[in-house]
Amino acid sequence: MIKQARIIELPKFLDTRGNLSFVEELIHIPFKIERSYWIYDVPGGETRGGHAYKENQEFIVALSGSFDVLLDDGEKKEIYSLNRSYYGLYVPQGMWRQMENFSTNSLALIIASTRYSLADYIYDYEEFRRWIK
Ligand code: TYD
Repeated sequence: MIKQARIIELPKFLDTRGNLSFVEELIHIPFKIERSYWIYDVPGGETRGGHAYKENQEFIVALSGSFDVLLDDGEKKEIYSLNRSYYGLYVPQGMWRQMENFSTNSLALIIASTRYSLADYIYDYEEFRRWIK
């Protein structure tokens, strides 16, 4: 485990009519929610992400299908495979992160702690290494 990045289990209501899970800010995830976005229709072999956020924190859930999230805190790298909709990956600020190995029809939900801001991104890995020190 690097920094406080971790898998967080969500409530799960199993029901013969279909299952239900949910997430509430400051209860299941350690930040207030400012934004949600989702990634879908990813062609085979494509990667998303490949950058860091200085301030933004995220919670990533595979609502459908599966994909891998690569995290790098500047010292250690770790890969988390997400493939269930009742848990997700908490990504603290200041992590390099990339998403890859998307399965067909996968759907990634990302819940974020800040509004979209290009100024919060670090797109260059060497710049990230200098910034994180
Ligand atoms: P980006 O975060 O760069 O995606 P990825 O890292 O997976 O390539 O976002 C891609 C584009 O979408 C970028 O041009 C800006 C836009 N965007 C928004 O306008 N709002 C958002 O909340 C997000 C996440 C992206």
